Amino acid sequence: MPDLITDRNLTPFGESRFRDALRARGAGMSVGNIHLFHEITSTNDEALRLARNRVPERTLVLAERQTAGRGRRGNSWAAPASRDLLFSLVLYPPLELSAERLSRLPHLGGVALCHAIEEVCPGIEAKLKWPNDIYMLGKKVAGILIENGKHASQTFSVLGIGINVNSVDDERPQELRATATSLREETGATVDRHELLAAFFASFDRLYPAGLEDFGGVLSTIEDRSLLLGRKISAQLERSSITGKAVEFGANGELIVEVENGGHMERCTLNGASQVRLI
Ligand code: BTN
Repeated sequence: MPDLITDRNLTPFGESRFRDALRARGAGMSVGNIHLFHEITSTNDEALRLARNRVPERTLVLAERQTAGRGRRGNSWAAPASRDLLFSLVLYPPLELSAERLSRLPHLGGVALCHAIEEVCPGIEAKLKWPNDIYMLGKKVAGILIENGKHASQTFSVLGIGINVNSVDDERPQELRATATSLREETGATVDRHELLAAFFASFDRLYPAGLEDFGGVLSTIEDRSLLLGRKISAQLERSSITGKAVEFGANGELIVEVENGGHMERCTLNGASQVRLI
């Protein structure tokens, strides 16, 4: 049967092409062992399992297809096979790090993703929808799911990322079509997943782990790129919901919202577990 896929960017992911792209950016050491799957339940599941077995830091799990991809807040993450990037990175943040410092990790990931997208897709502006989503022209293009764990006194974090790279609208579940997009759809061209992933790791390597302590640069980047600051939002909290104006970020990247309460303005601090939408 003839191979109908002629675009080189739509061929399966290859470790050696990716390693070449990393080396070309001087970031050859930013990724450890790579576990590449044709199909898996969720790369986060596998990375969590590997972390419990103490694989080396920066072990990368990448899959062409997930049968049970997870998003935040119990959502699923759907992607067609071999079009997008679905990966999880095993990290062992410094043991002495406080929970507040660790809560900065998704922001490091988000900033690195924006830089990578803009490097590989010149002319495109990537925005951050707090806490963990990347948007382009009002539609979601990538999401981050961090899961932390502990095994025999060793704490670990799994940084799971899904990027809609070369998928197109009719490959997406109907309910996501109005709100999601891909790099291919926004640029009009297929994107090399190896280059994009290498650009991500080169950028993340410059931010992690030092950026967990020295957070000022990341904080100003998430302010500059924020889709929410200055806008009216509603947020679903554990037992209630609020409506107000997103005004600034706290020292660890929390979202601070001004809410009117009986004629007074109150400030409400949201942590990364909140669900926020623009209104
Ligand atoms: C979100 O937007 O809610 C976060 C989505 C994170 C999806 C990625 S895909 C790779 C990794 N494996 C998973 O099961 N989830 C993350």
